[in-house]
Amino acid sequence: MNALRSWPEFQATLRVPLVLAPMAGGVGTPALAAAVSQAGGLGSLGAAYLTPTQIGGAMAAVRAHTDRPFLVNLFAPQPVPTVTPAAVALALEELAPFHAALHLPPPTLPPQVQEDFGAQLNAVLADPPAAFSFAFGRLPPAALDALHAAGVLVIGTATSLREAHLLAQDGVDAVTVQGGAAGGHRGGWMQDDHADTLHLTRQVSAALSVPVIAAGGLMAAADVQAALQAGAALAQCGTAFLLADEAGTTAPYRAALREGRPTVLTRAFSGRPARGLRNSFTDTVTSPLPTPTQNALTRPLRAAAAQAGNPELLSLWAGDGYRQARTASAAQIVADLTP
Ligand SMILES: Cc1cc2nc3c(=O)[nH]c(=O)nc-3n(C[C@H](O)[C@H](O)[C@H](O)COP(=O)(O)O)c2cc1C
Repeated sequence: MNALRSWPEFQATLRVPLVLAPMAGGVGTPALAAAVSQAGGLGSLGAAYLTPTQIGGAMAAVRAHTDRPFLVNLFAPQPVPTVTPAAVALALEELAPFHAALHLPPPTLPPQVQEDFGAQLNAVLADPPAAFSFAFGRLPPAALDALHAAGVLVIGTATSLREAHLLAQDGVDAVTVQGGAAGGHRGGWMQDDHADTLHLTRQVSAALSVPVIAAGGLMAAADVQAALQAGAALAQCGTAFLLADEAGTTAPYRAALREGRPTVLTRAFSGRPARGLRNSFTDTVTSPLPTPTQNALTRPLRAAAAQAGNPELLSLWAGDGYRQARTASAAQIVADLTP
């Protein structure tokens, strides 16, 4: 249990005004989080796809390498939408040829499509980190209270002023504002402005008193500096770390990042819009099921594609700035991003 600090006290514990974006699904490893924290930023564990036991293990792995503050990120609890048999049939039909190509049995709808948020949160609270962030919605009040009672600073994710306003009303300690260039999933839930990151940062920091963390397309020290000048308390970078030595980015993913493909916003992998490199899968799949069902449905295929080293069937999340991502140690990337 930590004693809950104020935001300015917490921020003063960071030596550089940088947050490593939480990156669930393999890219964001404990080693990457620890290296960024150790370099003076706020390292993050994207834990949304981990079981409670895996969360405990990942947090312990960060702590084995650093005693600096770090953040854990989960997805706000999602209602599982009902899907019609016709929609399921269409989604399965679209995936079938990909399964065949990878020598997998035909696709089927898995019985469990997401982790239990309450159990994940309990795993986080068992040995609380300094900060917790969430995406895709608002947090149940009991969850927010439990985090605060454990001394954890809580950060929500907004893609518009409207969402930021609701999160601030709920009592979060800071809001990450995600501009349209950002890699990975769109983190909001009701209104996405796909705004320029600096514009959204200015708009939210002028309208609300909650500290703002700017995210989306911040690839160099000058971008971080511009975000701070626009009113951000911190800058959050994900794509800049995709080629970090400590990142879990697979070999075919790294190779695709060096090819210079365009990015697209796609619902093909998870049913929720996300920005990544264009490939055969994003070009072909037009009838995904809603999230989180499509995400669970495509998991076996993505795992097999990673095994086979096939970038055409992998989710290659990347922001618009990805051509500026450098292959280097996380500490070097932090140094490069520090104004
Ligand atoms: C590979 C990848 C995975 C991501 N996973 C998560 C996640 O698990 N949770 C989350 O809140 N944001 C996630 N994001 C979004 C980031 O938090 C952030 O908004 C984004 O990386 C900022 O833009 P940039 O990629 O241009 O730096 C992810 C981004 C990437 C690139």
